[in-house]
Amino acid sequence: MTPQLLFWIPAALRFLLFMAVIGVVWFFFGSTEALAAALIGMSWMVFIQLRNLFRLSNWLDNPGDIRLPDGWGAWTDIFARLYRMRRDDEKNQLELSEWLARFRQAMSLLPDGVVIMDDVLFLEWCNPAAQQHLGLQLERDKGMRVTNLVRNPAFIDYIILGRYDQPLTLTFKDRKLVMQIIPFENRRQILVTHDATDAARIEMMRRDFIANASHELRTPLTVINGFLEIALAQPQLDAVTRTAHLKLMTEQGHRMQNLIGDMLTLTRLESVDYPMRAERVRMPELLEGILEEAQALSAGQHHFTLEVDGPDLSGSIDELRSAFSNLVTNAIRYTPTGGSIGMRWEAHSAGPRFVVSDTGIGIGPEHISRLTERFYRVDKSRSRETQGTGLGLAIVRHVLLRHKGTMSIESVPEQGSVFTVTFPVSAIANEFTPLPELD
Ligand SMILES: Nc1ncnc2c1ncn2[C@@H]1O[C@H](COP(=O)(O)OP(=O)(O)OP(=O)(O)O)[C@@H](O)[C@H]1O
Ligand SMILES: [Mg+2]
Repeated sequence: MTPQLLFWIPAALRFLLFMAVIGVVWFFFGSTEALAAALIGMSWMVFIQLRNLFRLSNWLDNPGDIRLPDGWGAWTDIFARLYRMRRDDEKNQLELSEWLARFRQAMSLLPDGVVIMDDVLFLEWCNPAAQQHLGLQLERDKGMRVTNLVRNPAFIDYIILGRYDQPLTLTFKDRKLVMQIIPFENRRQILVTHDATDAARIEMMRRDFIANASHELRTPLTVINGFLEIALAQPQLDAVTRTAHLKLMTEQGHRMQNLIGDMLTLTRLESVDYPMRAERVRMPELLEGILEEAQALSAGQHHFTLEVDGPDLSGSIDELRSAFSNLVTNAIRYTPTGGSIGMRWEAHSAGPRFVVSDTGIGIGPEHISRLTERFYRVDKSRSRETQGTGLGLAIVRHVLLRHKGTMSIESVPEQGSVFTVTFPVSAIANEFTPLPELD
């Protein structure tokens, strides 16, 4: 049935019933009584309609507070529909406010700053990242002009030029920010800010790395080229000089090879796509191997001790071997003939640790915090002599990062150094640690 029929049929039935009652009164009591009954009935009906209208008008004045009145006849349906509408409305409003809260939360978690401004750049809203990037405070600055809040000539020029299709990069409050304005809704604009400080630092490190690496490679290449030119210009060089030159060229060739090898190791360790394969590292075996190599390198010039009194580790054998032997090689390189070098693997309350101590030349306190930087060497000329590239401790740092270990350095110039690397208790191998694969 259509809504019209649903309305008119009951109304017509009610009217017919009323007329029937009037007819019955007429039949039993006569026309005057019937007229009186009709008048009373009509007045009653008008009164009911007026009362319902009054209730409706009251309710419309204050729909939230007052309960919807119960109706009679067609009013029942009207009130029921209004009630449903109000319930839907409340539900929609709840959904809307929930959605708004969720949106705000998402915005506040965003690492990028978002500022909403009106067409004349008055601040309407901003998220916490924007507050941090631009030094804004929403409650304090709302309604103020953004150009008065972000006082930076490059930013103001950007606004004046209005070329918003291009982002703007600027330094603001010691941060490198990339900003862009996006007009929306005709009357509003969004300012998006992205903190590129870390990216800029990494870019600078990469540039430094390339510059340093090229510089390091140029020296041995210059030496090799120099000797090759001599060999070309003077074909009749005596055998002794020739051998000496060839020996020097071979040394420089090795140096380049070491350098490239170390750079490749570092790049691989830094790459996130190169997962670490943890396996059981048998420490006595590993350290005895390192001791043998160290003794061969030292060629009897140093006195060595090795104590192994700690648990096996779960980690990458190759990476740990490379890190530990870097520390031991350093101890040999920077300890004059006759000195002693101690290696100790021990259990400690903070976790197992490897301690390498030497009685060598030591390191000045001003250098200690920089030793793990790539290519950092205390004494460049001495390092050249010792074939050092300055990448060894950078490799150690990366290996430790991957194994969640830490390194501490104590040193007294002219007396010696102690390098301690500590691993977390969680790095100790247990029965679930896979055994190393045999090659
Ligand atoms: N045990 C030590 N005693 C004194 N100085 C040290 C010691 N270990 C490291 N150093 C200093 O720290 C610097 C950085 O060491 P690192 O191992 O990174 O480079 P390297 O030994 O010069 O070259 P390589 O890349 O071949 O290891 C060294 O050049 C040296 O000056
Ligand atoms: Mg080294």
